[in-house]
Amino acid sequence: MTHEAGWAHAPGALRGPAWLQAPHDPNALVPHLWSTTAEKVDGELHVGGLAVPELVANVNTPAYVLDEADFRARARAFRDAFSDYDVFYAGKAFLCTAVARWVHEEGLSLDVCSNGELTVALRAGVDPARIGYHGNNKTLMELRRAVSVGVGRIVVDSFDEIERLASITADGMTSKVMIRVTAGVEAHTHEYIATAHEDQKFGFSITNGQAMEAVRRVLAVPGLELLGLHSHIGSQIFDSSGFEVAARRVLALQARISEELNVTLPEMDLGGGFGIAYTTQDDPSDPAQLATEMSKIVEHECRGLGIPEPRLSIEPGRAIVGPAMCTVYTVGTVKPVQLDGGAVRTYVSVDGGMSDNIRTALYDADYSCTLASRSSDAAPVLSRVVGKHCEAGDIVVKDEFLPGDVRPGDLLAVPGTGAYCRSMASNYNHALRPPVVAVRDGVARVVVRRETEDDLLATDMGDDQ
Ligand code: LLP
Repeated sequence: MTHEAGWAHAPGALRGPAWLQAPHDPNALVPHLWSTTAEKVDGELHVGGLAVPELVANVNTPAYVLDEADFRARARAFRDAFSDYDVFYAGKAFLCTAVARWVHEEGLSLDVCSNGELTVALRAGVDPARIGYHGNNKTLMELRRAVSVGVGRIVVDSFDEIERLASITADGMTSKVMIRVTAGVEAHTHEYIATAHEDQKFGFSITNGQAMEAVRRVLAVPGLELLGLHSHIGSQIFDSSGFEVAARRVLALQARISEELNVTLPEMDLGGGFGIAYTTQDDPSDPAQLATEMSKIVEHECRGLGIPEPRLSIEPGRAIVGPAMCTVYTVGTVKPVQLDGGAVRTYVSVDGGMSDNIRTALYDADYSCTLASRSSDAAPVLSRVVGKHCEAGDIVVKDEFLPGDVRPGDLLAVPGTGAYCRSMASNYNHALRPPVVAVRDGVARVVVRRETEDDLLATDMGDDQ
């Protein structure tokens, strides 16, 4: 039986969402969902020149496998395409000291959004001048640390924060800052909404005048140097129309600042949010195309407004680390469930779940997966990959065609899990958070080890004190 024939749908079989198709060859990968060194060799998934079944025989599952060459190549692609910009890798997507070092070595700057992320960046030896510090509620202590280590810029998000920075710099310290503004644009995937409605916690509104007031207040603090305005419009964005509207609104404010306050802001940050392919329905732009479009927009607007072009920066997180990682699980149980109407959905339970990837439960995110430990010619069945947590919504992959002979002990791998999976992992049900294993040129290195039971109990103080 050929693969094609083997993967024909049985009449009346459950088909899943309209976009989902049984792969033409289940023993091959859909390349644009995987990191560049990923391949199937006789049904086994290989990444970074290593056979994944062998790799996880050493580190156990679940495990995140991080393709170092892929990560570095994506970082470089952003750096090269946006060569006139500063590219800040958004550490919130995934950060550990090894990754912070790679980011630094590849010539990118690094965004952190918490004291913890700053600690990791400094521990990795990142030059503080190349660090941007975000957050809507930075404490006095956090700000004092950021200023005293000399972070390159603090992205200010509230009037309270301006007061805190004023009190810190009153001692003679100085800091460069940007002001995060709300451009009234919310972009998600293929759509953006541009309205005056700005009902969210980040930034100063341009429309109600708070952004202009924030500029005035920052300029009045002697220890603060205002670099420019910052705007971040959303996540998993596939086209530049949302950036266009945001850039137009931010630059219009920039022109007003120059006119009314006689101040030319030298920089502008357009944030992150560049989309990646989680399933075959996603078709992201490459960095070169994004760079061309964004530069054209800014150039055009600045010319129209008669202001000089600011030096631009962007903050991609997901687009660099997302596709560079996959998660490998072991199948534990396989349960066919009869649905209303008689169709059958196969529930495949794996040894992780919402504790290592909360995105499906939290955002209804779509993922795909593949059998990673062997080839199979069995006919496809619509499957749902679920975790082992005590919650019905503990789903990893909502819909995927997997070979009908998937069984306990098989390995499944889910691509595109580099961003916001390990970084949002939890100890729900006292799960041990999985390791991150970096692979490159046939060598594996555990860059984040698996948690142990001792780690779990380390903060449990008991009741016998
Ligand atoms: N810059 C700022 C100011 C941000 O708030 C973010 C993400 C980024 C850059 C990076 O965005 P990226 O290029 O990674 O999309 N947990 C959600 C995503 C939250 C994003 C928060 N901010 C998820 O899993 O989809």
